[in-house]
Amino acid sequence: MTIPLFDTYPRLRGALPYIALGALPTPVERWTALEQEIGIGTLHVKCDNVSGLLYGGNKVRKLEFLLGRTVQEGVKTVLTFGAAGSNHALATALYARGLGVNCVSMLVPQANAPSVQRNLLFAHRQGAELHLYPGRKRVALATLMQFQRLKRQQGRFPQVIPPGGSSPTGCLGFVNAAFELRQQVEAGLLPEPGLIYVASGTMGTCIGLLLGLRACGLQRKVMATRVTSPPYTSAEKGRKLYQGTQTTLREADPTFPASSFPAEQFELRDEFLGEGYGLPTPGGAEAIAMAQQAGMKLEGTYTGKALAGLIADARAGKLREKNVLFWNTYNSRDFSAEIRHVDYHALPSGFHPYFETGAQ
Ligand SMILES: Cc1ncc(COP(=O)(O)O)c(C=O)c1O
Repeated sequence: MTIPLFDTYPRLRGALPYIALGALPTPVERWTALEQEIGIGTLHVKCDNVSGLLYGGNKVRKLEFLLGRTVQEGVKTVLTFGAAGSNHALATALYARGLGVNCVSMLVPQANAPSVQRNLLFAHRQGAELHLYPGRKRVALATLMQFQRLKRQQGRFPQVIPPGGSSPTGCLGFVNAAFELRQQVEAGLLPEPGLIYVASGTMGTCIGLLLGLRACGLQRKVMATRVTSPPYTSAEKGRKLYQGTQTTLREADPTFPASSFPAEQFELRDEFLGEGYGLPTPGGAEAIAMAQQAGMKLEGTYTGKALAGLIADARAGKLREKNVLFWNTYNSRDFSAEIRHVDYHALPSGFHPYFETGAQ
């Protein structure tokens, strides 16, 4: 099987945990209509929305390494974290189940939306054990209790997968993605992009890409649109994740290039967050509508805000001569048939208000 990162650094194969889950490489498509409408040299989309057959989006790439470790270590349960409608928690539950691994999701409240409802129902249908806590402090306490319970019941501790899967191991998925992109540039599927626009929730995607792009010689700029507040997205976290991921790679293969954080190749954009995580913005809504005209399904929490950043830069005339890539990180696989008959009353009662009050 070809895994672009391992093809370039063969010593990493076997030295890093990995299990194939995705439908990779994901396609690259040119978006001529928007390119012309808002004045961009060239605009392509990296279609990670179809990164998996059952469920796509950016989490699949991270889970190839995270769940690779789970399988390697024979762990029975993974414990992960997120907001109530977390795409990451859903993807983890779904792909873990496919490997016979249980998933316990420790969730915190978020603004309601149809996608929150859908994700909760699907995660429940996938057998995820769902818990809702009022905030991060309570999650920390409850995590200790879950550790004790699982050790008692299963004889060993669960594997912890951090929010968004954004640990150095999870970031490897996007280091690999950068090498995949290089192969596509070499194959002439797109010109070498000067700027890559992507949403930043827990930073694993943008930092993995940044490190991978640098290592594979595509030394271009990552424009990361913040959709969360610190500590989930911050300059300091980005640097730590970069160094941690690089250390993981260099411990597995010392010939993997060492580099310091390339600040000149990374821009963290604050202007498109709006009032906060999961809260829609006018720019995001406009971006979603423009994408819809091209048959692309985006949403208001991540990808709408990332595309809003790209559109604003184009309108300001900054992208006229540039080759630009938009990384679509949102699942587009339709799972409505899977949840049609799931009754929300089967979920723990703390989640019921999401189904009983209006969604935005
Ligand atoms: C659809 C979507 N796009 C982007 C992101 C951001 O990715 P990351 O958490 O790696 O920054 C997430 C998850 O957080 C997501 O679910």
